[in-house]
Amino acid sequence: MKVIITKDYEEMSAKAFELMKQVVTENPSAVLGLATGSTPLGLYERMAEDHKKNGTSYKQVKTVNLDEYEGLDISSDQSYVYFMRENLFRHLDIRPANTNIENGKAQDPEAECARYNALLESMRQDIQVLGIGSNGHIAFNEPGTPFDAETHVVDLTESTIRDNSRLFARIEDVPRRAFTMGPKNIMNARRILILASGANKAKAVLGLVKGEVTEQLPASVLQRHPDCTLVCDEAAASLL
Ligand code: F6R
Repeated sequence: MKVIITKDYEEMSAKAFELMKQVVTENPSAVLGLATGSTPLGLYERMAEDHKKNGTSYKQVKTVNLDEYEGLDISSDQSYVYFMRENLFRHLDIRPANTNIENGKAQDPEAECARYNALLESMRQDIQVLGIGSNGHIAFNEPGTPFDAETHVVDLTESTIRDNSRLFARIEDVPRRAFTMGPKNIMNARRILILASGANKAKAVLGLVKGEVTEQLPASVLQRHPDCTLVCDEAAASLL
């Protein structure tokens, strides 16, 4: 794993943008695997700014997102489909039909997981952006998820519900279940870019880089990926 330590969040975002821009410039019809959460917001801002200023085009780009809460309406401002539209897609020239995410309102969750797995088989991510949970999760793969799991529905852990409750009016409003790509779908990406910022991620980052490869710390599987780059700020790297 390549580790890049930056001074702060802004520098982390700038470095992540540099790597992302390289992928889109080299291959204008790249498949981008994207994440939600606070961590990639600075990267997305830079992508939007660069598109506006320099005209970098996303017309041929396709995207696949990691995960989506179960049961939220797509118009809900807490849904990840809404997050992606507001924070990235509406600022680019990307075709909405080229953006993909699990349907959190699917009537048949198993069929939805099978649909998403087939989609991922047909379009391998050229780069997969990831954040990391304070418990070491990637996407919504919580500790204990088998490394060979594909897209599935998960019961979120109390720690994830607590972490994510900051974005909801009340903790009771945080959905208890979500659709998520599995570690196997993530590991299939040609290249991984994992980002981490802040002291609350330091322990998870230590496990990611130097810990035992164990399903108890889902991110540790990335040690086995042939092309994985971690960009993290000094606070997140403080235990390395
Ligand atoms: C988001 C996702 C999550 C987050 C992680 C970190 O799509 O899959 O694994 O990347 O929970 O979240 P933030 O960035 O909000 O600290």
